[in-house]
Amino acid sequence: MPTRLPTPCTVIPADRYTSTAWAELERTHLWPNAWLFVCFSSDIAQPGERQVLDIGTESAIVIRGDDGQVHAFHNTCPHRGMRLCDNGGPQGRHVRCAYHHWTWKPDGKLLSWPDGTQFAQPPGDVTLRPVLVEERLGLVWLCFSTPKLSLDNFLAPIADTLTRHHLDRWVRSDDITLTVPANWKTSADVSNESYHIRTIHPEVLPIMNDTTATVDALGLHSKTTVHFGQASPHMSASAPYDETMRGWQESIGLKPPLDPRAPHLRERLQAAQRMRGEAQKLPWQDLTDAELVDNVQFHLFPNTQINLYAHRVQIYRHRPAGTSPHEMIFDQIAYRPLAEGEKRPPMPPHKTGDAKTAQQGAMMAIDLAMVIGLQRGMRSSACDGLRLTTEETAIRHLHEQLDAWLLA
Ligand code: FES
Ligand SMILES: [Fe+2]
Repeated sequence: MPTRLPTPCTVIPADRYTSTAWAELERTHLWPNAWLFVCFSSDIAQPGERQVLDIGTESAIVIRGDDGQVHAFHNTCPHRGMRLCDNGGPQGRHVRCAYHHWTWKPDGKLLSWPDGTQFAQPPGDVTLRPVLVEERLGLVWLCFSTPKLSLDNFLAPIADTLTRHHLDRWVRSDDITLTVPANWKTSADVSNESYHIRTIHPEVLPIMNDTTATVDALGLHSKTTVHFGQASPHMSASAPYDETMRGWQESIGLKPPLDPRAPHLRERLQAAQRMRGEAQKLPWQDLTDAELVDNVQFHLFPNTQINLYAHRVQIYRHRPAGTSPHEMIFDQIAYRPLAEGEKRPPMPPHKTGDAKTAQQGAMMAIDLAMVIGLQRGMRSSACDGLRLTTEETAIRHLHEQLDAWLLA
C-alpha cells in the first residue's frame, strides 16, 4: 500500500519507484487530474497540425481546428477502437483512421466514411471523445479528466518568467523520444539536481558554477537556477578551459567568442547577449541580465521540466509507458527563438529509439545510463530508499507534492 513519507524523512522509500501499487495510484489519481504539457502553440500553428500525448494507457490527439482553436480528443476510433494518430505520422486537414478510413474533422465530428457502407446501427452523431485542452503563455496543456486546480492557478508561480521569455516566438528545433526501462520519477530526478555535474559532467565545470545553484519551491513546482559564465571551484586544473568556454559562447551565437581570461567575463557575456538580441531582434527584451546567460529549470508538477536559456529552451518530459512502474518514455524537445519577421521553419524530424541503443548527445547518454542503473539498483531487496543532500531538494519537493496530491 502506498504510504506517506516518514517523519522525520531521512530516507525516501524506494517503493515509490518500483511498486505496482504506486504506479496504479498514479494511474488513477495523478495522471487523470493533473495539467500536462503537450507542446508549444507554434508546433500546431496551422489547421490540421497535431501532436499526440501518451500517458500510461491513455492517449490524446491535440489538433488545431479550422477556427484556429486547439481541440483535443482521445486517440481512439469510435468505430472499432483503432489508435488514430502518432507523432511523426501523416498530417492533413482531417484525421483519417488507418483501418476503415472513417474520417474526422478537427472539431471531432465525423466527416465521411467509405461509400456504400450500410450501418447495422447508424453512427448517428458519433464524435471523437473530447479531452480538456487550453493554451497559455504560448504553450498547450491538457487534462484527461477533471483538473484538481484551474490552469491559471497551476501556472501562476511561473507565469511571470515564461511571459518574459515570449515563448509564442519560439519554434521547435529538435525532437527525440526514447523508451527507458525505468520509472518516470527516476528519470525526472536525474534532471532535477546539479549534484552530479561535478562527478559525471566535469566538462561543463569551466562554464558553469554548480556550487552557487539554488533550488526554490514554487507551490507544486520547483525552480533550479544554475549560473553560467563563471567556473566552478570543482573544476580540475587540467580542464580545457579555453576550448569549453569558446564552444559554449559559440553555441549561444557569440562569434567571435570573448577571451575567457578576460576580467568580468560574466558581465561581458551578458552585455554581448544584450547587443545580439537587439541586433537580431530576438525576443529577449524583457529578460534580466542574469537570464541572458543563466539556466533556469522549472520542474512543473508532475512530469515536465522546462529548461530555459536565452538562446535555447529544452523540454524534458517523463511519462509512464503502460502500467509497469519500470517502463517509461522520455522526451527531449528543443526550441529556439525566432528573430522578428522570421518565418517558422519546417518541423524537425521526430526521432524515436531505445535509451540503451539510441544515438544521443554525450551528456544525455550518461544521464540515461544513470536512470537505468538507478532503477535496477532500487529493485534490489537491499535498497530501502534515497538519502538526499541539500543539492537534491527538488527531488524531495516532488515527493512531498505527490503525497499531498495522492495521499491527503
Ligand atoms: S476502426 Fe477506425 S474506421 Fe474502423
Ligand atoms: Fe546530467
